[in-house]
Amino acid sequence: MTVYDFGLESDTYDLYYETEYGREVDRREKKCIEKCFSGINRENVLEIGCGTGHWTNFFSENGFKLKCIDYSPKMLEKAINKNIPNAEFSIGNASNLEFAAESFDSVFSITCLEFVADRAKAFSEIYRVLKPKGILLLAVLNQNSQLAKSKSEISTFENAHFYTKNELKDLLSDYSEIYINDCAKLNDDAMLVLDDENNDHEGMMIVVKAMK
Ligand SMILES: C[S@@+](CC[C@H](N)C(=O)[O-])C[C@H]1O[C@@H](n2cnc3c(N)ncnc32)[C@H](O)[C@@H]1O
Repeated sequence: MTVYDFGLESDTYDLYYETEYGREVDRREKKCIEKCFSGINRENVLEIGCGTGHWTNFFSENGFKLKCIDYSPKMLEKAINKNIPNAEFSIGNASNLEFAAESFDSVFSITCLEFVADRAKAFSEIYRVLKPKGILLLAVLNQNSQLAKSKSEISTFENAHFYTKNELKDLLSDYSEIYINDCAKLNDDAMLVLDDENNDHEGMMIVVKAMK
């Protein structure tokens, strides 16, 4: 189950990445996520909430072989039409994964777990399907970011759950070697600023890498 039907925006979803702002946010997020790739087995990845395949494409370009699921048939159709190499797509629910225990070397999920209705179940499902020493690479929207301040005014986000770093540390307390970072900072005027620029705000996206 999901708190927002992304099928409503499947036709326009990728247009964001064609705007100057979207391109720059994407560049920063990719830089942050790419830093986590070292040591991850590229052969056997589950991507949860692949949407239109925007990140699937990036992972595939970086040599990963993926099984990808999404709750929305319309989002998934967009992904399938991109003919992304080394990616298989199917409908699936993050909180009820149709895979055997300990079947993946890694699980990737980029801005999906904010929208899952039963989030606790999704976290336990991810843990279940990961092999021992498997890697979780997770990106979620940040409750301590400037973006969160306008959350209730944006229909896509109003029912979504943004996370804090401390909350993620608690949710991932069964994991080891937890790396946590944030990227895509906004300033007080909601303008993108350099991620290393000194301001009091955290970036829009939190990225976590953790080992089971
Ligand atoms: C913000 S989009 C992100 C899509 C893609 N990861 C990206 O970053 O471009 C969130 C995606 O999560 C999917 N989603 C929401 N709830 C889900 C659930 N319970 N199980 C699987 N996917 C879900 C939505 O259908 C949507 O495609």
